Amino acid sequence: MKNIFALALFFPFSLFAQTTTFQWQQVAPGVWKATVGKPEKLTLLGVAEIQPRVEALQKLGTPVFPNELKQSTHELTDGKAYLRFPLHKDEQLYGLGLNFKSVQQRGTIKTLHVDHYGGKDDGRTHAPVPFYVSDRGYGVLINSARYVTVYAGSAVRKDSKSPPEEMNRNTQKNWNAQPYSDAVDELVPAPGTEVYVFAGKNAMEVVQRYNLYCGGGTLPPKWGLGFVHRTPTLFTDQQVLQEVKDFEQKGYPLSIIGLEPGWQSHAYPNSFVWDSTRYPQPKPFLDKLLAKNIRANLWINPYVSSHSPIYKDILPYTASHTVWVGVVPDFNLKPARESFKKHFTAQGVDLGVSGYKVDETDGYDRWLWPDIARFPSGYAAEQVRQTYGLQFQKMTVEWFRARNQRTYGLTRATNAGASAMPYVIYNDYYNHKDFITALCNSSFIGVLWTPEARSSKTAEEWLRRMQAVCFSPMAMLNAWASGIKPWTYPEVAEQVKEVMQLRMQLLPYLYTTFAQYHFEGKPPIRAMNLVEGFADAGTVVAGKFDATDNPYAMAVRKDIKDQFMVGDYLLVAPLFAEEPKRRVILPQGKWYDFYTGKYVGGGETIEVDHSAGLDKIPLFVKDGGIIPMIPATLHSPTKDEVLPLTVRYYGAQPGSFNLYDDDGETFDYEKGNFGWTKLEVKDGKGQQLPTQGREWRYGKVSWEYMTR
Ligand code: GAL
Repeated sequence: MKNIFALALFFPFSLFAQTTTFQWQQVAPGVWKATVGKPEKLTLLGVAEIQPRVEALQKLGTPVFPNELKQSTHELTDGKAYLRFPLHKDEQLYGLGLNFKSVQQRGTIKTLHVDHYGGKDDGRTHAPVPFYVSDRGYGVLINSARYVTVYAGSAVRKDSKSPPEEMNRNTQKNWNAQPYSDAVDELVPAPGTEVYVFAGKNAMEVVQRYNLYCGGGTLPPKWGLGFVHRTPTLFTDQQVLQEVKDFEQKGYPLSIIGLEPGWQSHAYPNSFVWDSTRYPQPKPFLDKLLAKNIRANLWINPYVSSHSPIYKDILPYTASHTVWVGVVPDFNLKPARESFKKHFTAQGVDLGVSGYKVDETDGYDRWLWPDIARFPSGYAAEQVRQTYGLQFQKMTVEWFRARNQRTYGLTRATNAGASAMPYVIYNDYYNHKDFITALCNSSFIGVLWTPEARSSKTAEEWLRRMQAVCFSPMAMLNAWASGIKPWTYPEVAEQVKEVMQLRMQLLPYLYTTFAQYHFEGKPPIRAMNLVEGFADAGTVVAGKFDATDNPYAMAVRKDIKDQFMVGDYLLVAPLFAEEPKRRVILPQGKWYDFYTGKYVGGGETIEVDHSAGLDKIPLFVKDGGIIPMIPATLHSPTKDEVLPLTVRYYGAQPGSFNLYDDDGETFDYEKGNFGWTKLEVKDGKGQQLPTQGREWRYGKVSWEYMTR
């Protein structure tokens, strides 16, 4: 006994903190779960109430458990869970939240924490999803609502099986400030957690499994993919209607008009009641918009003013601290959810409001509740923070579902399990390049992001931002503070109109791309690292020694973060202000210019040069690519609208495209009311073959053979 005690003192670690392997249990084809210690009740997937699409997962195949992860281990110590997943030397990792500066995440350290993005990829972000995808064909998700710290291949253990070589900085030039690490280490500050593994033959298939397991990607209403304009915060109903008229008269497309805080009588904190001076008759106002086929989206944040009719009801279900002097509802409690549902159904959804922009569920720290706040449900402030955005999204979806009506809105915070949520993330950060990097990164973690346009220093910047926005999940101008219009800069007013019209023309292609997200789990916007035949996996360039900026001569990683795919065929390479030239990496195969159909290259890097004029956003189509388009309408098509279809075909390879259609507004597609029609070109001739279902809202079909 005495000896054991002495041993324990000597080797306390090995005796008391047992390192064990995981017990993996298959929970769906290609998806495994393990339980470590005692997981907490509140989890990310639990809050999201995911409903795995088992049939679609079965269709995707039944891969075996990834070999790479068989040696994974965990320990429980200090009331926390330590997890370790092995890495191969040449392996790359993606995901780990909505990052704005980098795509590859190997070698990074993050504490994943819901927050407004602060300019560093340190884990504090709008969607700190604790999920990483490996290019070796697997993904790991930590289903914990805590601030999980991830050492994504940065820590080196002395008992490592493949340790980095010890080097001498004095004599060896290739001495590395960040020695090679052979594992991902994760620290979950909780007595246990669930861990999920997703397999796949490549990174894309892993992402598909993740999205399908989370319920399949969202399928927005058709109007959600049209153009969104948000008006200045104190606009009146008449000013909004005038704005709508201006869009119409000038010929700029518009599908959603967004009202900012001033639609309410009190804002920050919110009354959630229409202001009777600015909006004396909300229903007739909303009817007028709907009659023009324009939807209204209302800004809210969740913090309740003492002037709100729900204040008294909700008070017992609110946190110890306030946000902007408003009480903070604890949506883990049913009465809080019910109170919101009753109010927003009567004052919003039933009046004709089509969606919400749910602001400020993310932080900044000084504005949100502190981590010492208490919530009546008993959950820790940290857990509520990590799940607040998710909770809110889930709640609103139910308000609309009760009317068999789809919604599509905006959120500033979300987390794992959000694939099926009809919400797009936005923020106040406004770096154009970083906005595009976020678009790329959104594709690994089951979220959508909009690089909204707000204002610009120059006409050129305005055009570049508007172009990029038109190739994102939500084409949005957020003029809440600037009052800017698409046509504000006369020098580029025509080019801006053109790209907005192109967005409308591409709706059949975009809607099908979202149907792929829903039915197959393929994200609509795709980072190049998810694309087959993409050769450049991002190079690492040796760092230059600089006594102040880079004293350890840290290597610099060159990510491909300024180009992406929309759907299967369209490669988008945005231009940035004052950079009329750019390089575009074309994956293997042949690629064609979208506008002219001309061959541009394949499996190589090309340079595009727009110095001669402001012109268009560079777009390229893969060989055999089929792009179905409608005329440039001012509004998204209604439920029964039948439009002619122009099918563009590029290159020479036989090609096909399964065009999806349904009513575009309800959930009837869940009952099988949808249609897939195969558009294919064989021997240089196009044909259409209905493959499943009857839904098809197109009149005359004409084929355009773009490459001659
Ligand atoms: C910000 C939000 C902006 C705008 C503004 C209105 O928090 O990010 O888009 O809605 O609030 O006060």
